[in-house]
Amino acid sequence: MYLGLDLGTSGVKALLVDGDGRAVRSADAAYDVSNPHAGWSEQDPADWVAGIGAVLASLRQNHPSTYGAIRALSFSGHMHGAVMVDDAGAVLRSCILWNDTRSHIEAAAMDADPIARAVSGNIVFPGFTAPKLAWVAKNEPDIFTRVARVMLPKDYLLWWLTGRYATEMSDAAGTAWLDVGARAWSDDLLALGGMSRDQMLDLLEGTDVVGEVQAARADLGLPAGCKVVAGGADNAVAACGVGALGEGDGFVSLGTSGVVLAGRGSYAPDADSAVHTFCHAVPGRWYQMGVVLAAADSLNWLSRITGQGAGELSSALGNTLASPSDVKFYPYLSGERTPHNDAQVRGGFTGLDIASGPEDLTHAVMNGVSFALRDSFEALKATGAQLPSALAIGGGSRSDYWTRMLATTLNIPLERPDEGAFGAALGAARIAMCGDTGADPASVMTKPPIADVIHPQADLVAAYDDAYSAFSGAYSKLKAMP
Ligand code: XUL
Repeated sequence: MYLGLDLGTSGVKALLVDGDGRAVRSADAAYDVSNPHAGWSEQDPADWVAGIGAVLASLRQNHPSTYGAIRALSFSGHMHGAVMVDDAGAVLRSCILWNDTRSHIEAAAMDADPIARAVSGNIVFPGFTAPKLAWVAKNEPDIFTRVARVMLPKDYLLWWLTGRYATEMSDAAGTAWLDVGARAWSDDLLALGGMSRDQMLDLLEGTDVVGEVQAARADLGLPAGCKVVAGGADNAVAACGVGALGEGDGFVSLGTSGVVLAGRGSYAPDADSAVHTFCHAVPGRWYQMGVVLAAADSLNWLSRITGQGAGELSSALGNTLASPSDVKFYPYLSGERTPHNDAQVRGGFTGLDIASGPEDLTHAVMNGVSFALRDSFEALKATGAQLPSALAIGGGSRSDYWTRMLATTLNIPLERPDEGAFGAALGAARIAMCGDTGADPASVMTKPPIADVIHPQADLVAAYDDAYSAFSGAYSKLKAMP
């Protein structure tokens, strides 16, 4: 048995798969994000430890023999978060998360040095790890001077389980401290961010074994000798879960953030396009993606303020895709990454009418997020990535309506995997299997069985195309508003 743990922004999901790669058992636990100020987003690593403890306890109690057969486990983790620890591993402050934009001034300053894009292959986005440390240096100097190491979120759990300070390429690629082409820490980038190499963790490939579960974690009841495999960043690991390793393979994710991802066999960065170019979670591969900061998060926001569940909002739209709505929504609730790299811009509705009702708002939100994903899709195509079709994953893809709208907006067929909800947890279990057996990742990380294919709705493609053009033109006007 192999255990995949998907450390997400809103909770952790655990998935047990057998030696043939079939999902057999799962468990979930939720935790919160704290937003103490506009643009701030934090989590206490102790909440992740509690979440992991809860999912493991549930699997152990409900499926003792399966649990007792776990040979190796691995992680998918939300990216870019900065867990700062002292030399005993004690956490110095709450983790500053990927969607926190407080360090936009520090990010712009680092990005202005040509070395940053040239070596990291990416814009230094405010959500990345390096500018967060620069913000802490400026605003919380007492904490900064005590930072012995900086860990990405899932690396904190690797350390908690094994006692070893280790990370891997796919998460390290999102720090702005890594030479992404060379797959090595860059002294130049570290110097630019005021950091030193001894604050960095051992750098592994995602399928490398970090170690065994340490005696101090015996209370988890994992079998003796259970291996902990490094794992990867959530999007890379989700790509492992759906077999997106190489050219022409990719996915669209309607998760908290939205992602359009394409596997790449070589390193071909194009930082200026605001496309991200990162190391894959398997050796010798990279991937590119565009990131929409508030995708399903936009619908969750509407759900919070209307008091209706996201599923309820979606089902109220019925089954037949409607034309693009007159009410428009711009999903910049947390700023935007691709293609705008703008931490300051904020979202909005336009075209509201006295007759507008909740369904119009839901439709507009789904439209706006779909168009933002089309922005990423176009940016990705411009880098040379090809996506003639894509898998659709993430919570939002459970909505038939939204998935059809997205297929129509991108004008490509979207395939929904049978185990859609398990993307990253399944990818993590597959990484654990490769780490344990030494199997070739390409033979393990295959495309899952497809539950259904959602095709673009031909009679609406032109209308969605026109509405997308109008959406693209609106950003600069929104930006100019006070
Ligand atoms: C990717 C990114 C998000 C997070 C959260 O760059 O910031 O996808 O990993 O899921």
